[in-house]
Amino acid sequence: MVLTACGSDSDSASGNDDGSITMGFAQVGAESGWRTANTKSVQESAEEAGFELKFSDAQQKQENQIKAIRSYIQQKVDVIAFSPVVETGWDAVLQEAKRAKIPVILTDRAVDSEDTSLYETFLGSDFILEGEKAGEWLVENAGEMDVDGNGAINVVQLEGTTGAAPALDRAEGFASAIEAEDTVEVVASQTGDFTRDGGKKVMETFLGSEKGIDVVFAHNDDMGLGAIEAIEAAGLEPGKDIKIITVDAVKDGMAALAEGKISFIVECNPLLGPQLMDLAQKVVDGEDVPERVVTEETTFTQEQAAEVLADRQY
Ligand code: AHR
Repeated sequence: MVLTACGSDSDSASGNDDGSITMGFAQVGAESGWRTANTKSVQESAEEAGFELKFSDAQQKQENQIKAIRSYIQQKVDVIAFSPVVETGWDAVLQEAKRAKIPVILTDRAVDSEDTSLYETFLGSDFILEGEKAGEWLVENAGEMDVDGNGAINVVQLEGTTGAAPALDRAEGFASAIEAEDTVEVVASQTGDFTRDGGKKVMETFLGSEKGIDVVFAHNDDMGLGAIEAIEAAGLEPGKDIKIITVDAVKDGMAALAEGKISFIVECNPLLGPQLMDLAQKVVDGEDVPERVVTEETTFTQEQAAEVLADRQY
């Protein structure tokens, strides 16, 4: 799917006739509430900045993103921005962009490339820190999280897309935060691909295969919401019989948190559009930009979610 947010197609290599910028944006897909909010933020911010936006949805497939980037290179856009579905395998296409002198901005997710000259900057969250925050909260609230009171906290982990930066980093951050706590153990871990349906299916499997699950750590709200459906279908009460910790803080997740079905959410901010347009303008103008721009994020308890839910934008 390729959409143009505003303006018409342009062949210019250095801006449209009116001096505006053409950005090619290769999005991961529409797998989660977070992604929908991120896409809206990028499209609205491009329009506000007066950019022509060429937008593609890769449906969570790396080959589709690579095709989209190649098409943006052919179209001679002024700047390419993309959120890589997985971390590895980007060097060849990024070399092509570099040879064509088209700057690339990584947004939301990083690539695992040794050659940092292949992109100008990376705007997005610190996913390791997000995993750490989830693990630290679990350790601090260990008494409450030990649902069956047997002194052992059995955690099942719903991982994001295999090979994606947020899946790898959140798992790493979480593992390091619980490492010193002998009572907490990840007893099973499997990918739910960041989708609600994926989270539900994996949780159904865990409920059948694992005894005494105390806690679900889901790498995003959507998988946590899918887990809630599976837990309820099994005749159990989420938030009471099994505790749930997630990442994102989209509106549906926050509603489940305020309702007591989720116990804690680490925020991952999807509203990257305004900062992305600002960085793109600077890059095209030849100004220096920082190598890394980290998004500011918070965490939410059930009480905090209840307070802010009505005003949550996404
Ligand atoms: O890369 C950000 C992650 O991707 C979000 O946490 C998740 O919901 C999305 O699919």
